[in-house]
Amino acid sequence: MAATGGKLMHAVQYEACGGGAAALKHVDIPIPSPKKDELLLKLEAASINPADWKIQKGLLRPFLPRKFPFRPVTDVAGEVVEAGSGVDSLKPGDKVVSILPYSKGGGFAEYAVASASKTVKRPAEVSAADGAGLPMAGLTALQTLKSAGIRFDGGGGGGENAANILVTAASGGVGVYAVQLAKLGKCHVTATCGARNLELVNSLGADEVLDYKSPGGAALESPSGKKYDAVIHCATGIPWSKFEPTLSEKGKVIDITPSGAALLTAAIKKITFSKKQLVPFFFSRRAEELEFLLGLMKEGKLKSVVDSRHPLSQAEAAWAKSVDGHATGKIVVEMGL
Ligand SMILES: NC(=O)c1ccc[n+]([C@@H]2O[C@H](COP(=O)([O-])OP(=O)(O)OC[C@H]3O[C@@H](n4cnc5c(N)ncnc54)[C@H](OP(=O)(O)O)[C@@H]3O)[C@@H](O)[C@H]2O)c1
Repeated sequence: MAATGGKLMHAVQYEACGGGAAALKHVDIPIPSPKKDELLLKLEAASINPADWKIQKGLLRPFLPRKFPFRPVTDVAGEVVEAGSGVDSLKPGDKVVSILPYSKGGGFAEYAVASASKTVKRPAEVSAADGAGLPMAGLTALQTLKSAGIRFDGGGGGGENAANILVTAASGGVGVYAVQLAKLGKCHVTATCGARNLELVNSLGADEVLDYKSPGGAALESPSGKKYDAVIHCATGIPWSKFEPTLSEKGKVIDITPSGAALLTAAIKKITFSKKQLVPFFFSRRAEELEFLLGLMKEGKLKSVVDSRHPLSQAEAAWAKSVDGHATGKIVVEMGL
């Protein structure tokens, strides 16, 4: 017998691509049941990523909804209420963070079914809001830095061997984690953000912070004259020609929102064996890395920056804020508010 036996839950969903926040509909629908290797979670918080509204806009082709109505949002924190058959890693009562599949979503609801293999225990020291902020943005920050050769096992880097890293849009969902993780990876960090967030990004550990609207910031110039070994490129609309003169001999730009022009540049750089490379990047849903990030949070070495918290009843406001593109850190929707 299901733990929630035929009860209804509140959820927010849309019925077709397009329409933005105005197309989100509030509904009461049956609580889903977990199948084999799945968990039923009572959600406490979910965080929005730009990918969520890009999917609604029909922009992220491989991840478009398989069917409608579609309940968006993938990054969630909550409590296990029921474990499907075959799950022995987690049990009812466990507090967790999970990353739901993009093609299924499900985070804008009081309950969601999650794959046990993409769900990890949340330490008591990590709040639901902070944990929900982590999956896509935190994993992207960690994986881009790893692909730039930064190590998180305590070895390498630091001192004279410190890699010089530029993080663009360091005040955004991905950027705030990238700055902190790059410092943990013993890098010298230059970061760009708007004038209102210079102090915040500095407090996250960045060595140099540039206002992206100032001449030096627009040119991505390190004030100390450093050339970047890698750019964790979280902003959009910056052409390769701007990056090229700022890179070290074998510097690379890891572009997490590659445009058509960027994909072409990346291909040309690759086939011509250019020393400087542009690398298009898409993150992977790796539970062991999510566990690693939660461990850093537990130890107080990594924190989420929460832009704003919205009750599920006002999910539209949270959605519109993400579409607006000026969040500082993560936009969080809370189910218990
Ligand atoms: N490939 C992947 O796996 C992957 C994973 C996660 C995210 N992404 C993509 O990465 C991008 C960033 O995601 P996010 O969650 O960090 O976005 P976000 O939270 O919406 O980013 C908003 C922040 O970016 C700042 N910003 C905007 N343009 C800037 C510029 N030119 N220079 C410096 N700062 C700028 C804004 O500052 P102001 O408000 O001051 O303008 C704001 O604080 C999105 O396009 C997202 O879809 C890709």
